[in-house]
Amino acid sequence: MSDSEDDRIVSADVAGDDEDKIEVSLRPKLLEQYIGQTDIKNELNVYIQAAKQREESLDHVLLYGPPGLGKTTLAMVIANEMEVHIRTTSGPAIDKPGDLLSILNELQPGDVLFIDEIHRLPKVVEEMLYSAMEDFFVDIVVGQGTGSHPVHFPLPPFTLVGATTQAGGLSAPLRDRFGIVEHMNYYRTEDLEQIVKRTATIFNVEITEDAAHEIALRSRGTPRIANRLLKRIRDFAQVSDKNRVDLDIVRYALKLLKVDGLGLDDTDIKLLKTMIDYYNGGPVGIGTLAANIGEETDTIAEMYEPYLMQIGLIKRTARGRMVTDRGYKHLNIPIPDRKK
Ligand code: ADE
Repeated sequence: MSDSEDDRIVSADVAGDDEDKIEVSLRPKLLEQYIGQTDIKNELNVYIQAAKQREESLDHVLLYGPPGLGKTTLAMVIANEMEVHIRTTSGPAIDKPGDLLSILNELQPGDVLFIDEIHRLPKVVEEMLYSAMEDFFVDIVVGQGTGSHPVHFPLPPFTLVGATTQAGGLSAPLRDRFGIVEHMNYYRTEDLEQIVKRTATIFNVEITEDAAHEIALRSRGTPRIANRLLKRIRDFAQVSDKNRVDLDIVRYALKLLKVDGLGLDDTDIKLLKTMIDYYNGGPVGIGTLAANIGEETDTIAEMYEPYLMQIGLIKRTARGRMVTDRGYKHLNIPIPDRKK
């Protein structure tokens, strides 16, 4: 992550410990409290009820989609609904097969193991997961040299919930071992509005309908961003005489926070303007663009591009990324004559 990504208010990345604590306190516990992602909830509800009736562990679940959409929250809801414990970790945190074994060893029958950023698991650890997921055992070699020998560890049945921002980044053998694969997409404005109102209630702050709507519109389809914006905006409300979040306060605060009408910040605008000013709106390769604005290619691909694409300001073509007519309009720049 670049420095600018760190302090970006509309970044979907987790900012740090304080924010972690706030996210935890806001988390819904049950599927019926989880707002949005209706199709996924309905499907999961069936699989959970069926597994419970059969008194079996739930099949392994892969959740993929952009950051900040509530994948960890959903994993916790799944564990809660299954009435089992959850152990959470992440791909980069599991260095060696021994680390994974000690985690698996502590699970009780039916427990959920949540691995965030599962595409970043080291290869040797990933390979150990294959038998663990499929047949609930691992074979591990202990000792060294002539004294080394394989040991067979049976495991309790468990449910692996894996989360990734890139389903394509997962190897086929790993992907194929998930019985349930759910693609999470950006939230609808109505759902974000509800999430904002729910969070306001938890924060014990009054919010008007139009203010909740405005925050929802500017949150890039992402609950984590909506909650973060609300948290900042309530500070503005608190120090004003009104002590209530209304449309004026939202507009005022978001102007100062440099979040525009579609939730774009300076970096998004810089990206679009670079494409327009230096490449006549594209097509331009993502690596070239990244170098131009001083960001990592992955950061652009995971954090900026998906949303700009989702709202139709840029599009991907065989020859590279292009700013759409809508992109020009959003920036109030005349649309150039371009070859199709
Ligand atoms: N807070 C963050 N995401 C949420 C969701 N999908 N439902 C309810 N509250 C949330």
